Amino acid sequence: MPLSSTPIAPLSFRKALGHYASGITVITSHIDGEPIGFTCQSFHSVSMSPPLVSFSVMSGSASYPRIRQAGRFAVNILSGDQMAISNQFARKGTDKWQGVEWQHSPLGNPIITGSLHWIDCEIHAEHAAGDHLIVIGEVKALDLQEVSTAQPLLYFKGQYCNLAAQDVA
Ligand SMILES: Cc1cc2nc3c(=O)[nH]c(=O)nc-3n(C[C@H](O)[C@H](O)[C@H](O)COP(=O)(O)O)c2cc1C
Repeated sequence: MPLSSTPIAPLSFRKALGHYASGITVITSHIDGEPIGFTCQSFHSVSMSPPLVSFSVMSGSASYPRIRQAGRFAVNILSGDQMAISNQFARKGTDKWQGVEWQHSPLGNPIITGSLHWIDCEIHAEHAAGDHLIVIGEVKALDLQEVSTAQPLLYFKGQYCNLAAQDVA
C-alpha cells in the first residue's frame, strides 16, 4: 500500500527536515565599512565546473540585501566550539559582531577567527523560491591551509551536536 499523502503542516515540515543533519555556516560580507553576517544551515555545493555553491535566505533577512549590494560573500564553516557564534549571528537586530575576531578574505569578506574553513564567493545568480531566495555563488578563493583537524559544528533535529567524542572515519 502506498504511504498516504496529507497537507504539509509547518511543524511537521520542520521536524521532517530536521532529520537531515548538516554543518552550520555564517555567511558574511562587508560593505560601507561594516561587516554583515547571518547564521545559515542551508549551504551546499552545486557544481564543480564552474565551482558553484548555494545557500537559501529568508526574504525578510536584513543582511541579504546588503550582501547582494556587495556582490560577494564568504562562507564561514563553523567548528565544534563555535556554538556561541552560531547563536550570536542568528539574533536579528543585535550587534552580531560584538567580541568577534575576524579578518578580511581575498575578496574583502570577513573570515571569523576559529572557523573550520572558509570559501570566498561572488554572487552568480539568485532565484526566488517560496519565502526564501536561493543564492548561487561562484567560488573565487578558498582556505589553502592544510585540512583542519578541528571538529565541525553539526545541527540535527533542531539541536547542535558535535563529533568531539567520536572517531571520524
Ligand atoms: C542553526 C540555524 C540555522 C539557520 N539557517 C538559516 C538559513 O539557512 N537561512 C536563513 O535565511 N536563516 C537561517 N537561520 C536564521 C538566521 O540566522 C536569522 O534569522 C538571522 O537573525 C537573520 O538575520 P538578518 O535578518 O540580520 O539577516 C538559521 C538560524 C539558526 C540558529
